[in-house]
Amino acid sequence: MTNIELDPRIIAIRESLKDIGNTIVIMSSKGGVGKTLISSLMALSLSLKGSSVGLLDLDITNPSCHLVLGINISSIKPIEEKGIIPPIIHGIKFLSIVFYSEDKPLSLRGSEIDYAIKELLAITRWGKTSYLIVDSPPGISDEALDILSYLIDPRIILVTTPSPLSIKSIERMIVFLKDSGEKIIGLIENMANKPTNPINKICRDYNIQYLGNIPFDKYIDNCIGDINCIKTTLFYRSIEGIINKIT
Ligand SMILES: Nc1ncnc2c1ncn2[C@@H]1O[C@H](COP(=O)(O)OP(=O)(O)OP(=O)(O)O)[C@@H](O)[C@H]1O
Ligand SMILES: [Mg+2]
Repeated sequence: MTNIELDPRIIAIRESLKDIGNTIVIMSSKGGVGKTLISSLMALSLSLKGSSVGLLDLDITNPSCHLVLGINISSIKPIEEKGIIPPIIHGIKFLSIVFYSEDKPLSLRGSEIDYAIKELLAITRWGKTSYLIVDSPPGISDEALDILSYLIDPRIILVTTPSPLSIKSIERMIVFLKDSGEKIIGLIENMANKPTNPINKICRDYNIQYLGNIPFDKYIDNCIGDINCIKTTLFYRSIEGIINKIT
């Protein structure tokens, strides 16, 4: 038995996550490639398809899923009852550190971030949930790796852009995750008007599913915070196509 399995907080985390069917973690090697938009819209799409879905924003220092989905954190609070029950917004069980930081800058450091992540995971009562989508901070930081070690059977969706600067970096991340025994569902190519050869090659070389491309959508920023507007976008339609592949 490893130390992590003996940690009482990990036991509490495993207990609170036990009724979740599929845990999908959205990760990328670089920042700003669209993880938060993708996580939020995947949760929205699953919810609108009738699945029971949770969205957990674990980007502790920069939570922003609530901004994408237009969640007014000053008017909604999780109910505290033997832990915390995530509020259901647009049919999504939603939890983020932002409910507690109230959108003020959080200057947490290493061990404090780890503590906040463990605490959130341990006290949240998700109940029966088919999919838990987890938005994560960029890169293969300690924080991102710790998140994977706390979750039950996490499966990763990687996000990259076709930029030549991203290619080496996503390749390194794939090698690292595979060597660490992590399960990768597939890769999304964002801000690409069509699938590109280098990203397809990476998927072939590392035996990873190419889940689809999301074109550059010049309207997406205008729709941030308004789900009716978001649902009309090319970005959202692309997400629906990806959801159909993984459900
Ligand atoms: N397909 C797209 N078309 C147009 N703009 C996009 C697209 N994808 C992402 N963006 C732009 O990139 C910005 C950053 O996206 P997002 O916050 O989802 O990235 P992230 O990977 O979560 O960033 P971080 O690593 O900082 O958490 C968006 O606000 C949007 O302006
Ligand atoms: Mg983000």
